[in-house]
Amino acid sequence: MIEINVGSNIKLVNFNPLSLFIPGGILKHSSPLAILFAAAAAISGAAQAQIAPDRQAEILYLLKHDCGSCHGMRLEGGLGPALTAERLNAWESDLLAMTILYGRPGTPMPPWRPFLTDSEARWLAARLKEGIRP
Ligand code: HEC
Repeated sequence: MIEINVGSNIKLVNFNPLSLFIPGGILKHSSPLAILFAAAAAISGAAQAQIAPDRQAEILYLLKHDCGSCHGMRLEGGLGPALTAERLNAWESDLLAMTILYGRPGTPMPPWRPFLTDSEARWLAARLKEGIRP
């Protein structure tokens, strides 16, 4: 299991997402962790789209029935850890959204990218940090 320190010493600010696509850019010399942070920085630039109310209801249904099956019906933990505000407080929203989108390879945490867009994952991450319970 990989523990990611999401403390204040991580700087995404100066990262240029374009360097991902430049030969000899970040991907060539970077650890998987650096690539994760790079990708987090890249989606953090995505437009803050509004999520339509119907779609919000669908995402919350997914949270209850799919996430809840592993993280507990009240998100207080099960096979996966609790997804409570207390636990997620220290997370950068974008890293949280990345974990939701790409999962945790090598663990049962699956990627939700086929079902959620970047904006939807970020919306869900923000709701989890607020302490939403399905
Ligand atoms: C098949 C089981 C399963 C499902 C379904 C699942 N998860 Fe997970 N999730 C896990 C496991 C197991 C971990 C812990 C992975 C590890 O060991 O690092 C995890 C980790 C996480 C983490 C990181 C938490 C932390 O503190 O390390 C987040 C955030 C998360 N899941 C969100 C979600 C969301 C949101 C959904 C639904 C869209 C979801 N998960 C659905 C099993 C699942």
